[in-house]
Amino acid sequence: MGFSKYFLSAIAGASVAYAACSNSQTQTVQNQGDADTVGSCPTFTGDVHINANAGPTLDFGKIAKITGKLSMDTDSQLTTLSLNSLTNLGSLSLTNLTKLATLQMPQLTTVGDMTLENLPILGGWDFGTNLQQAGDVNIENVQIADLGAIATAKKLNSVTLSNCQFLQNIHFSVSEIDSVDIGPNNVQQGQNVSFLQLATATTLTFRNSTIVNTPMLRNVSDTLSLIGNTFTSFGAQNLSWVGALVIASNPLVTNVSFPSLTNINGTHPTLDIQNNTDLTVIDGFPQLVDVANGDAIFAGNIKNLSLPKITNIAGALTVDTTVQSFDCDPIHALKDKQIAKGDVNCQNGDAAPIGSSGSSPTSGSGGAASSSKSAAPIELPSFLTTGLFAALLAFLA
Ligand SMILES: *[C@@H]1O[C@H](CO)[C@@H](O)[C@H](O)[C@H]1NC(C)=O
Ligand SMILES: *[C@@H]1O[C@H](CO)[C@@H](O)[C@H](O)[C@H]1NC(C)=O
Ligand SMILES: *[C@@H]1O[C@H](CO)[C@@H](O)[C@H](O)[C@H]1NC(C)=O
Ligand SMILES: *[C@@H]1O[C@H](CO)[C@@H](O)[C@H](O)[C@H]1NC(C)=O
Ligand SMILES: *[C@@H]1O[C@H](CO)[C@@H](O)[C@H](O)[C@H]1NC(C)=O
Ligand SMILES: *[C@@H]1O[C@H](CO)[C@@H](O)[C@H](O)[C@H]1NC(C)=O
Ligand SMILES: *[C@@H]1O[C@H](CO)[C@@H](O)[C@H](O)[C@H]1NC(C)=O
Ligand SMILES: *[C@@H]1O[C@H](CO)[C@@H](O)[C@H](O)[C@H]1NC(C)=O
Ligand SMILES: *[C@@H]1O[C@H](CO)[C@@H](O)[C@H](O)[C@H]1NC(C)=O
Repeated sequence: MGFSKYFLSAIAGASVAYAACSNSQTQTVQNQGDADTVGSCPTFTGDVHINANAGPTLDFGKIAKITGKLSMDTDSQLTTLSLNSLTNLGSLSLTNLTKLATLQMPQLTTVGDMTLENLPILGGWDFGTNLQQAGDVNIENVQIADLGAIATAKKLNSVTLSNCQFLQNIHFSVSEIDSVDIGPNNVQQGQNVSFLQLATATTLTFRNSTIVNTPMLRNVSDTLSLIGNTFTSFGAQNLSWVGALVIASNPLVTNVSFPSLTNINGTHPTLDIQNNTDLTVIDGFPQLVDVANGDAIFAGNIKNLSLPKITNIAGALTVDTTVQSFDCDPIHALKDKQIAKGDVNCQNGDAAPIGSSGSSPTSGSGGAASSSKSAAPIELPSFLTTGLFAALLAFLA
């Protein structure tokens, strides 16, 4: 009968389309034919894995949604990957693809976690202008010079970014984020990092950057770390609360400024300022009241240290400076006044303070309040042997 024949073929057609548009296992794509099959679905339900045989180009046609993960992790001839109609993607993972040069997802609005790693010639990606949100974004060793829509997305769960040697401008638009870890990228030209809207975060780590700009930052509940940067100053005007603060090995910084910071209180609360060669005056904590449950460490070429409002340092307080004229008495007084609750150790004239090269990080700690001239071996800190000697030699020449 006509009707049942039509009905059966409609069911059969539907079930074929259904089978092609979902896969409870992983759908493998190894050629354009496979990409056409997946690409003919408006939505593909499941994961899609691109095989090493694929390429040199793959075009996923009109597909708009992939609910699962789109991944490729074995090197191949693939140079161009296009999903020109894709708006939603469960997650994306492209790793170790030495020939991939172009990635196109110009309609993307939402993506889960993104891992783009070891894509050494991927110089162009097109995530369009509509990307609103992504999950954990991990970008490492990619040739891009522009983050594109990833940077303008309003919602990102986290960002890890390093070793993209052409990347100079790293400007994100998020106002809140879980974690950020920016490592070295453009070692030659430097990198300008800004999170101009960012107000709250759990953990922020900025390393090896020429500029770091976070003007709206209010609250970092776990740790803010500034390590190995070459900026001359860092300020967080509005930051009032931080779980822990680490400022280490920033050789050119002369001014760190946290005018609103009142509390350091997190899961491992510490105020750790070490090995910043040019940071001789630490006066950027005018409102700091409290280092709750944790230690405070100041080490380097420190002439002046000022914490005018401090009422509580729950852990140990360590000051270790190369400057012989640094007065340790006010530091010891913090112990006498019961402000510093733990061990207090102040060393001045130390040739190699903790944190600088050639010293052990724990030397001289422990014990009750004590003051000592350096008992360290005769050893010039590296900034003397390099900077000053070079300057002297240049002067003599
Ligand atoms: C990528 O290659 C590196 C070494 O070249 C390897 O350690 C890593 O596991 C690879 N990643 C994946 C996802 O295959
Ligand atoms: C760094 O980026 C900010 C924000 O885009 C910009 O205003 C500033 O001019 C840049 N600075 C340098 C030195 O490139
Ligand atoms: C600090 O936050 C206020 C609003 O809360 C804002 O108006 C101001 O611009 C912020 N400070 C800086 C330096 O951006
Ligand atoms: C900072 O964030 C933590 C954790 O989200 C919260 O407990 C604390 O109240 C916040 N502090 C301020 C000043 O916003
Ligand atoms: C990053 O900074 C650290 C600390 O100054 C330094 O040891 C390291 O060599 C830098 N890395 C790069 C790639 O410049
Ligand atoms: C001290 O800082 C310099 C860069 O300023 C870095 O190369 C060195 O590794 C740092 N030392 C320690 C112990 O962190
Ligand atoms: C340090 O930076 C802050 C904020 O940028 C500024 O107000 C202050 O004057 C600077 N201090 C010095 C000694 O340059
Ligand atoms: C530190 O934070 C904990 C947990 O949020 C809170 O219970 C405690 O009162 C805070 N301590 C101080 C001194 O602010
Ligand atoms: C360091 O402190 C001393 C005494 O507290 C003060 O006279 C001097 O002006 C300060 N120096 C700097 C550079 O802040």
